[in-house]
Amino acid sequence: MAAFANSPKPNPAPVRIANFRHDLDFSVDQLNAVLDLTKEVKQSRSRFSSALKGRYAALLFEKPSLRTRMTFELAMKQLGGDVVTQIGMIGDREPLKDVARNLARWTDVIIARTFSQQTVDELAQWSGLPVVNALTDLYHPCQALADMVTLKEKFGRLRGLKLAYVGDGNNVAHSLMLCCARLGITMSVATPAGYAPKTSVIAQAIELSRISGARIETMTDPVDAVQNAHAVYTDVWTSMGQESEAEQRRKLFGPYQVNEILLSLARPDTLFMHCLPAKRGQEVTDEVMESPQNVAFDQAENRLHVQKAILLMLLQ
Ligand code: CP
Ligand code: NVA
Repeated sequence: MAAFANSPKPNPAPVRIANFRHDLDFSVDQLNAVLDLTKEVKQSRSRFSSALKGRYAALLFEKPSLRTRMTFELAMKQLGGDVVTQIGMIGDREPLKDVARNLARWTDVIIARTFSQQTVDELAQWSGLPVVNALTDLYHPCQALADMVTLKEKFGRLRGLKLAYVGDGNNVAHSLMLCCARLGITMSVATPAGYAPKTSVIAQAIELSRISGARIETMTDPVDAVQNAHAVYTDVWTSMGQESEAEQRRKLFGPYQVNEILLSLARPDTLFMHCLPAKRGQEVTDEVMESPQNVAFDQAENRLHVQKAILLMLLQ
């Protein structure tokens, strides 16, 4: 045994996954494996620098992006691979199933940000390649995983934490609910009436939470939601694609702004989380964004590390 004590650690055998079309493509074991692998990847960039040598990702973006696009490109490059990028609607010039079968001839993985979740599902079906959801109208699973990494780093554990989500019951809220439910994090979601997460996602999350012992609850009062919260999370009130509703939403969502008063009603050591981009003066104040409680830039950094782990699990 002693002979091995100082030998370099071998790369951990990655747990293989076929796809990451949505949060539930990962089992709970795979969720824990991706969190562990993220830690390894973050600790040593050089150790994985040729893990995906000669592998190519197709990045398809129907919607704008800063973080997701850059971190996937950096992730592939830092792992020794590369990317090709296409921006614009997918499947309007030729059928989606043809696009998918073209990409299958050139690349190893598709990373797609689309309006419809069905586009991501069909890309997987027709390409036969692993497909990663880089945000759809329904889910943002890479974001939720980066957020789990961030919470684990800050608190040293996930089980037993409470996350309050205040604002719109959107794609980010959906993915967080599905992750928290399975990892034992209690999540209270406060939205205006009519803007709650989808009923089917709430039901799914509650069902999953029974196994982990977490509690998933939805409500309309942000003050109730933040009670005893270890972290308070918000996202834009108007997601990409909903721009025509922006004015109406701005009026309705006023009481859901995360400001210093709301934050002070959570635990004294509570963290502020945001997937970014943030609209200061709307869902969050400038003071909260500039406060030491804000960990949004750690979340953004962890997008890179967790996505490297996801790519390794898909491609190695
Ligand atoms: N949080 C996130 O996905 O950011 P982008 O829209 O800039 O990719
Ligand atoms: N809910 C936001 C997230 C952006 C990263 C949107 O879909 O626009």
